[in-house]
Amino acid sequence: MTIDSRATPAAFDDDQDNNPSPNPSFASVLGARMNRRTLLKGTFGLAAGSFFGTSLAGCGDDSYTPAAAPAPQLKLDFTAVAKSLADTVVVPSGYTASVLFRLGDPIAAGVADYANDGSEPGASFASRAGDHHDAIHYFGMGSNGAWSPAASDRGLLVMNHEAITPLFLHAKGPTIAGGARTVNDEVVKELNAHGVSIVEVTKAGSTVAYSRASTYNRRITTNTEMILSGPLAQAPAMITKFSPDGSRTRGTVNNCAHGYTPWGTYLTCEENWAGYFRRVTAADNPRRTARELTSMSRYGIAGNGRELWATAVATDPADTTFARWNAEKLGTSSDGSDDFRNVANTYGWVVEIDPFAPASAPKKRTAMGRFAHEGAWPGPVVPGRPLVFYSGDDSRNEYIYKFVSTANWDPADAGKGLAAGDKYLDSGRLYVAKFNADGTGAWLELRFGANGITGANAAYPFTDQADVALNSRLAADAAGATRMDRPEWGAVNPKNGEVYMTLTNNSATQRTLASTDAPNPRFYNDLTTAGTAQRGNPNGHIIRWAEDGGNAAATSFKWDIFLFGARSTADPANVNVSGLTASNDFSSPDGLWFGGSGILWIQTDDGAYADVTNCMLLAAVPGSVGDGTRKSIVNIDGAATKTVDTYVGAPLGDAKLRRFLVGPKDCEITGIVETPDRKAIFVNIQHPGEGTSAANFAAGNYLSNWPAGGAARPRSATIVITRNDGGEIGGSLS
Ligand code: FEO
Ligand code: CA
Ligand code: CA
Ligand code: CA
Repeated sequence: MTIDSRATPAAFDDDQDNNPSPNPSFASVLGARMNRRTLLKGTFGLAAGSFFGTSLAGCGDDSYTPAAAPAPQLKLDFTAVAKSLADTVVVPSGYTASVLFRLGDPIAAGVADYANDGSEPGASFASRAGDHHDAIHYFGMGSNGAWSPAASDRGLLVMNHEAITPLFLHAKGPTIAGGARTVNDEVVKELNAHGVSIVEVTKAGSTVAYSRASTYNRRITTNTEMILSGPLAQAPAMITKFSPDGSRTRGTVNNCAHGYTPWGTYLTCEENWAGYFRRVTAADNPRRTARELTSMSRYGIAGNGRELWATAVATDPADTTFARWNAEKLGTSSDGSDDFRNVANTYGWVVEIDPFAPASAPKKRTAMGRFAHEGAWPGPVVPGRPLVFYSGDDSRNEYIYKFVSTANWDPADAGKGLAAGDKYLDSGRLYVAKFNADGTGAWLELRFGANGITGANAAYPFTDQADVALNSRLAADAAGATRMDRPEWGAVNPKNGEVYMTLTNNSATQRTLASTDAPNPRFYNDLTTAGTAQRGNPNGHIIRWAEDGGNAAATSFKWDIFLFGARSTADPANVNVSGLTASNDFSSPDGLWFGGSGILWIQTDDGAYADVTNCMLLAAVPGSVGDGTRKSIVNIDGAATKTVDTYVGAPLGDAKLRRFLVGPKDCEITGIVETPDRKAIFVNIQHPGEGTSAANFAAGNYLSNWPAGGAARPRSATIVITRNDGGEIGGSLS
């Protein structure tokens, strides 16, 4: 097929019409860049219904008459900040960033302030903020203590604690002897420092505080009991010594990004969980079936376990808190009820948490598939239509997925907590994305019996739909999904339902010159200022797509590449393809989130541009899929060249893409969310100074001392940013 075979340029020209609706509520929220063609096809109703609670019934055709006045445009109204290597958070003039919730901060009455010297006992971390703050969401709370989506003065912040920096958690760093953990309390602390925090926050004017003693405060850790729900509930593959009927497991780990539901619950996603389990292959492989070995190999369940938790020996033999991190087949049972050979099967899922029900057990929603679940971002929510959640699999050359619920959305389910989750998240269709070279794409269903996912599949013979959910990666392989440059976060544009996803970067060995393709089109050498070569796609890009017919449940879409990360000084023809300038150049896009006004916030997790700047947060005003051009990119690897044709979004320029924040040294900028009035945003600063060596740690020389400064140990933290004049953050509709 030729590159011109996709829709004609006119069909993608988004600038032809302003929002024709005279309805002020639609005009104020949707802005001017709605496309008449997609409006008439129904996207307008989808987008409006999704994010603002309006029903399709309110979107009759008679509201599409031309407006007398131009609809408001979203404009960024801050001055971009410069790149920075300073050990501080830089925000634009006119803004204030305050530290709100740090590693170790107490979340219960009677818990002492954090000493930040490693002296607290491990158990106290069940009542303290965890480490490595990641995704974050804000749930407004009404005076009755229930979910109130529009409330900005009181709410629950729910956030992930993805991982830990062990050096800074313990008095002298972790104690390891002979490859084993020898101080059990250190392991207890680490088990408690992972998971999720729920904390109540209040906002009065521009003053935001968290409530140390709120009864809603809660820590969910690697030890919290959880229910397995969906097709793997009580499946033989989930049987462990802890749960011989396969109905339950303990904990969640490596929670990176997140999602949320239209009924007011939080979705925490288990990302690079596989590395936490100990499974020494030389010993264990001979005990396993060929099917088990194929599955465990595809998920990377091998090694000593990244924190060596399984090597700690409990004083009480009945205590399996440590032993459960050993995924080897050690028992003699036929079903796994006497060991933890199946424990890794209970990880890799989307986990639903009801923050308004502190006593409720979280539920692992197995219908949504198992992989390195980056997040689960909701598509447009439309009454009477299925719910859609997008996911990425955060590993190099992995895939992009979506889940489409069997049940159609009924707004009467809002506020019904985990019971609503049972209805919408336990049954549905799981798809994986195939990006075609002509700018179209297809969602391939991961269904037993379809798309090569059968008992006759040579790489892995599938047995049933539960097996497909458990081994989603293998099913996606069989279906022929497109290998992507490391899918990180996604975000859905509230203006038009289009989906954005970061492809954070890829290496020269995983994305060779020969394997560049239209959706992953670049191979280049990003030279550091010191002249060090960085080959492959070290700067990453952001892809986006529009579902056909404006229907989130569609099985086909159109895509283009919204932005390419690059140094502003890089070759403008083939590397800095998006025309980035000193005010907005970035590398390795990772976090992604749409604010209510339509600003797309982009966060970086970067090592490639670290010679020039710390990680950052940018604000973008996106157009829409197809607003740019077809483009040929010439890639060079030594003497070899390869030209790749792709589709590139319209350049944004300094007006529509600006750097808003730069973080302290050696950090990653992770979660972001705003209060509904858009007057406060919460941003997570993850692992400042994490690259500190053991020798420098011992000498008290930390790569960062943020946030306390001086000689303090660094701490991951949530910051809150407000505008000194009390206005909306970043820009507004005007
Ligand atoms: Fe936790 Fe996807 O990086
Ligand atoms: Ca990240
Ligand atoms: Ca990352
Ligand atoms: Ca990180």
